[in-house]
Amino acid sequence: MVRRRLFEECASLLEKSGIEDARFDTSCIFEDVLEERHPLFSPQEEVPPEKEQIIRSLIERRSEGYPLQYLLGKWEFFGYPFAVGEGVLIPRPDTETVCELALEICRREELGSPKIADLCSGSGCLAVTLKKELPEAQVTAVELSERALPFLKENIKLNSADVRIVQGDVTDPVLAAELTGLDMIVSNPPYLTAEEMASLQTEVSYEPAMALDGGRDGLEFYRAIAKIWRSSLKEGGWICFELGDKQHADVGKILAENGFENITFRRDLAGIVRGAAAKRSGGPNYGKEGTC
Ligand SMILES: C[S@@+](CC[C@H](N)C(=O)[O-])C[C@H]1O[C@@H](n2cnc3c(N)ncnc32)[C@H](O)[C@@H]1O
Repeated sequence: MVRRRLFEECASLLEKSGIEDARFDTSCIFEDVLEERHPLFSPQEEVPPEKEQIIRSLIERRSEGYPLQYLLGKWEFFGYPFAVGEGVLIPRPDTETVCELALEICRREELGSPKIADLCSGSGCLAVTLKKELPEAQVTAVELSERALPFLKENIKLNSADVRIVQGDVTDPVLAAELTGLDMIVSNPPYLTAEEMASLQTEVSYEPAMALDGGRDGLEFYRAIAKIWRSSLKEGGWICFELGDKQHADVGKILAENGFENITFRRDLAGIVRGAAAKRSGGPNYGKEGTC
């Protein structure tokens, strides 16, 4: 069958199955299987039968709501490639907002070779990107999941980023006490509420519950990290969190209660307050009050 006809058939199957970005997903699968950037530039070219079979089986799996990123086994974050698969959270564009916020602070504060810890690192998208963008930084990625760790290792290698891995529980004060003198903590912790966990979108239900579950009110990791990791930061050091929708007031309160100041928020492209940054009190008053 020629490319154009197969494409239309596949896209229409995904549309009928309720896949929102049916044509985009079909394009990604075509590009991946045919190993070409724009396969529809040659619409009348025959698709070899073995490739047609692979495309059809991927489309069928996608039509059942299986995540596109897991089918492809890779995804981009901040322009860098990341290996993904079951067991690790798929890097989201929302998280790029937090990455930008962290980079802005490091540059604004002229942190020459900042010591950074990425707590709840997962695929390592934040840790690896920060190391790539700030080559002088010393970056440590902390992750507990046995299933996520192989992806973290692979992504560090894939991007030739010198990031140290620590396997451990971010809610363990002993671990926090071992990682000190930090200029910055970044974290995209699990932040869904029990109610949200009970009604996940089909795609998200394939992602590890451990990466999503933030306890009854979704705030457990913010409470634990703000309390336990505060003294791992230098005085005047910064913390940057990714936030779930409508969590900013609660997280702002948690940060203030735990001795953080200059608390600012950042909206993502959808207008949701997605990032929070705050400074450990006690250091020189570097920061300026920011806006959303
Ligand atoms: C929301 S995901 C974020 C992953 C990645 N940083 C990102 O932005 O895509 C949260 C991560 O926290 C990890 N995690 C959950 N509980 C943890 C704990 N107690 N200690 C360390 N990591 C934990 C999960 O395995 C998951 O990889």
